[in-house]
Amino acid sequence: MHQILAVVACILDGHTRNMSPAATSTSSPTAKTATNPGAGKTADTSTSTSTSTSTSTTTVTLLEARARYASGRGYLAACTLGLPTIDTIAAMRADTEAWAGGQACASRYGEVVERVRVGYADLVNVTAHSVAIGSQTSVMAGLIAASLPDGAEVVLPLGDFSSMVFPFLAQAHRGVTVRQVPLADLASSLTANTWLVAFSLVQSATGTVADSDAIRAAARVTGTFTLCDTTQAAGWMPVDASQFDATICHSYKWLCAPRGVAFFTVAETFAAQLHPINAGWYAGDDLWASCYGPAMALAAEARRFDVSPAWPAWVGAEPAIDLFRRLDMTEVRAHTAGLGDALSDGLGLPRLDQAIVSWPDAGGRDLARLASAGITASGRAGRARVAFHLWNDRDDVDAVLDALRRG
Ligand SMILES: Cc1ncc(COP(=O)(O)O)c(C=O)c1O
Repeated sequence: MHQILAVVACILDGHTRNMSPAATSTSSPTAKTATNPGAGKTADTSTSTSTSTSTSTTTVTLLEARARYASGRGYLAACTLGLPTIDTIAAMRADTEAWAGGQACASRYGEVVERVRVGYADLVNVTAHSVAIGSQTSVMAGLIAASLPDGAEVVLPLGDFSSMVFPFLAQAHRGVTVRQVPLADLASSLTANTWLVAFSLVQSATGTVADSDAIRAAARVTGTFTLCDTTQAAGWMPVDASQFDATICHSYKWLCAPRGVAFFTVAETFAAQLHPINAGWYAGDDLWASCYGPAMALAAEARRFDVSPAWPAWVGAEPAIDLFRRLDMTEVRAHTAGLGDALSDGLGLPRLDQAIVSWPDAGGRDLARLASAGITASGRAGRARVAFHLWNDRDDVDAVLDALRRG
């Protein structure tokens, strides 16, 4: 059975295309089980013959990274949706062609996912063992929410993105209470009663960077678990996921991957508290032996929380994650937040060292001015919001100021 599944998984894999089950390897066809245990940050876990550069340790300069974007002038919306590099576009085109030609292959997609898992682990300073994959952060927050003890208290910042908030509110029927407090008061709001503190490292609506040191220090004192959403942070500032009990990240914004590629990092002690409520075949210890049960043998490491990947999206994510993993995030922060501060200067706003700059715009007039000047920005919670990423420069700052001055 196992052999047959392996062939079904990769029926169109070049020369194995017409191979009989007997002639096919009995080993798991994905690199998932080939991931090097304890490989950590720089290991090459790929057994693929692909030409991927995911395991390269060479660094990329800001200038080189900027050259990977074909366009982006006037695009100030990475906080809504990142732009693909030319490498992501090429990878996805090639994959679409392969798919159309009947050459797409489940096992090769699995290898891509494993390389991206390793690359992401490297980017956020954890081992690949502690990274689970999926497609949305709300599903990952939902896993944690469903694992809370009955009657547990969760503390969250007011105004955090709803994918972080609603999964916990949805547990009210079990007596779970959600206390929402101003972000600045988060650390001081924790008590010995608080089971979990959950917050976005960077707030979606305002770009405010949470004081994660203070929050973690308070959580240590109260014995509270920490969950951090890094969706609006990873890609423009350094993120160290090892500092939290768990992190979740959707990579279609600042990490410039297609939508549908999300990551969940989890410390072992916290993982022991969680129920793998989304478990399917991809959470199995051996994928291809996990397709039909009847018994459930889940992976020992974090991938027991995996939800099966949206394959083509991961093909596009591979060059994206690889690029960011090889960048110096301190340099990226200086570039992106430097542009944010330049805009703040021009608007007479305080410098906040943020890549996202927002200001009150209840009627949407400023947003309309930006749009008529050909600038792509966004409006959230009654505020105009612009975001500076790799492809932006001082000309974009000047264009915003000109558009707003024009009235
Ligand atoms: C902080 C944050 N987390 C998560 C998301 C995306 O949520 P999901 O992955 O559930 O679509 C967003 C989207 O704007 C966000 O700003």
